[in-house]
Amino acid sequence: MTGIDWGTLRKVAVDAMHRAYAPYSKFPVGVAGLVEDGRVVSGCNVENASYGLTLCAECGLVSDLIRTGGGRLVAVSCVDRAGEPLTPCGRCRQLLYEHGGPDCQVETAGGHTTVGELLPGAFGPEYL
Ligand code: THU
Repeated sequence: MTGIDWGTLRKVAVDAMHRAYAPYSKFPVGVAGLVEDGRVVSGCNVENASYGLTLCAECGLVSDLIRTGGGRLVAVSCVDRAGEPLTPCGRCRQLLYEHGGPDCQVETAGGHTTVGELLPGAFGPEYL
């Protein structure tokens, strides 16, 4: 995992987590991603009274990525309210696969891994 400043990524993720809108679950989530060009993008979860419309933090991350110029995610750190690593949910693994591919690195509670490890046999743009 050389060349990736995981400490900075985690800090940006924690800052984002503090801006989460999670009045229903009371489970704020923040995420930060390093882009191939060196940018750091971030997101937080945004819930809704119609619970199923909740936007995971990774949705905001992808929006920030595209809004600020796009590119590929090379590393992602997602955290819970304690600032501890949170492994992205299944749907969000798909989002990360789309914008980072299987080699995108992910910080989890169990250590560093990759999107490819978290989502083996993923469906991606190459199948279309
Ligand atoms: N959540 C995320 O933001 N990302 C994940 O990868 C896991 C779950 C949010 C959704 C919901 O607002 C809260 O965590 C509880 O599920």
